[in-house]
Parts: sequence; structure tokens; C-alpha cells
Amino acid sequence: MLNKFAYITGLILSLMAGHALAAGDATAGAQKIVTCTACHGPNGNSMNPAWPKLAGQHAEYLLKQLHDFKSGNRSNPTMSPMTAPLSDQDMEDIAAYFSNQTMQETPVAASVEAKTIQLGENLYRAGAAKSGLPACMACHGPGAAGNPAAKYPALAGQHAAYTAAQLQAFKTETRKNDANNMMRDVAGKLSNEEIEAVSQYIQGLSQAAPAK
Ligand code: HEC
Ligand code: HEC
Repeated sequence: MLNKFAYITGLILSLMAGHALAAGDATAGAQKIVTCTACHGPNGNSMNPAWPKLAGQHAEYLLKQLHDFKSGNRSNPTMSPMTAPLSDQDMEDIAAYFSNQTMQETPVAASVEAKTIQLGENLYRAGAAKSGLPACMACHGPGAAGNPAAKYPALAGQHAAYTAAQLQAFKTETRKNDANNMMRDVAGKLSNEEIEAVSQYIQGLSQAAPAK
């Protein structure tokens, strides 16, 4: 009886300790992102549209991506080597740091036509019956704020060039770190024109004031 009690108490204590370790420390993270800022910007707002903004992204999603790059589950010649020196704790701290930052918006280029944005909005909010495309909103939320518990990333305000590149990567299955093929199934149903449209629509969404 006593042994069982001691065992359960020990289990609870170790779970609590595990939980304490798992929480990232954003202040510690600020000291660990010096190399990252060259591409992702000092506070996770990258200037180059091929490099994703990390500011305001959910820590759970960022952490999964860092683990995936390190394990090879997601691969990119520029980004993968960056994760090699990072410990699990570094990744927790870095994810906490970037998720605490505020995303800066990048206005959609004036050359993008209104009908492109309209097509993107229709796809995002309603999907497409003809191709069996589900609404992006069903997982990423009406304002594209994502869902931290489910590790669905926030998309609002992301550079269109980066979003389009990821949709192409899922479509051609060069990116395949999505659980249960969720994004490969979606992207496989998108034409190149639709990828461009939905990516531009997403860049125009504000992370600060999500649409209802
Ligand atoms: C030389 C430029 C460069 C540097 C330096 C760099 N990254 Fe990246 N990062 C990229 C590129 C390019 C991608 C997109 C990769 C792809 O297309 O799959 C990326 C993607 C990411 C992603 C995935 C974002 C998402 O929305 O899925 C995370 C997280 C990330 N980087 C974190 C970091 C961290 C942390 C560091 C520093 C330790 C870092 N990066 C350093 C270029 C860089
Ligand atoms: C069934 C749920 C689901 C639906 C529907 C869905 N997504 Fe996703 N999406 C996900 C998940 C899960 C991920 C994260 C994959 C991972 O773990 O790397 C993701 C990731 C993404 C990414 C990568 C973000 C980044 O920062 O790298 C983009 C872009 C994206 N989705 C766009 C879309 C668009 C556009 C649509 C609609 C055409 C859509 N998604 C529909 C679940 C979904």
C-alpha cells in the first residue's frame, strides 16, 4: 500500500517536473536567436518574402517545426542545418520567444487584382465543391489564427510567396510532415492559380484583428 502510494506520488512529481521543463522561457530564448535574425528578422518579422515570419506564431507549432527540421521529417537546405546545434530546451525557449512577438503586416502588392483576392477568400472560407476542397477555415479558423492545441498554424499576414511555396511543397509532397496527410490532401486539390489566390488573400489578413 505504502509502496503504491510512493510510486504514484513519484509519478505525479516527475510529471510536474516534466511539465516545468517543457515550458519554454521567452527571456532565455531571446539570447538564442541571434543567428536566426539574419533571415527571420530581429523579432521574427522577416523582410524577404521567401523566409517565413515567425512573430506571433503558436509556440506549439514552431516547436514541432524545429523538431521536424532537426529529425529530417521536414527538410530544407537553408533551414535544416540551423537546427543541428539546438537542444530540446533551446527549441522550447526559441518557440516561446517568437510566439511572444508581434507580427508586422506587409500590405498586399498593388498589382494583385481584386478578383484574385476574391477567389482566395472563397476558397479559404468555403473550399470548392467541384474538386472536393475543404474550407481552409475549418482547420485554420475564420481569421486564420490557427489552433494551438491542434498544432494548426496561424496563417494570417504571412508572406504570400512563402505560403505559396509551402502549398506547392505539400502538393508535390516535398513537404510531408503534416499529420495524417492533412495538408497534402488539401494542396493536391489546388490549381496553381488557386494557390496564388489563397496565398495573397492570407497575406492580407490581419493577425491583430482576426476576421469573424
Ligand atoms: C539563412 C536563412 C535562415 C536562417 C539563418 C534561419 N532560417 Fe528558419 N527558415 C528559413 C527558410 C528559408 C525557411 C522555410 C523553409 C521551407 O521552405 O521549408 C525557414 C523556416 C523556419 C521555420 C518554420 C516556420 C513555419 O511557418 O513553418 C522555423 C520555425 C524557423 N525557420 C526557425 C528558425 C530558427 C529558430 C533559426 C535560428 C536558430 C532560423 N530559423 C534560422 C531560413 C532561415
Ligand atoms: C484538415 C485540417 C486542415 C485544412 C482543411 C487545411 N489545413 Fe493547412 N495545415 C493543417 C496542419 C495540421 C498544418 C501543419 C502541418 C505541420 O505540422 O507541419 C497546416 C499547415 C499549413 C501551411 C503551412 C504554414 C507554415 O507556416 O509553414 C499552410 C500555408 C496551410 N496549412 C494553408 C492551408 C490552406 C490555404 C488551406 C485551404 C486551401 C488549408 N491549409 C487547409 C491543417 C489543415
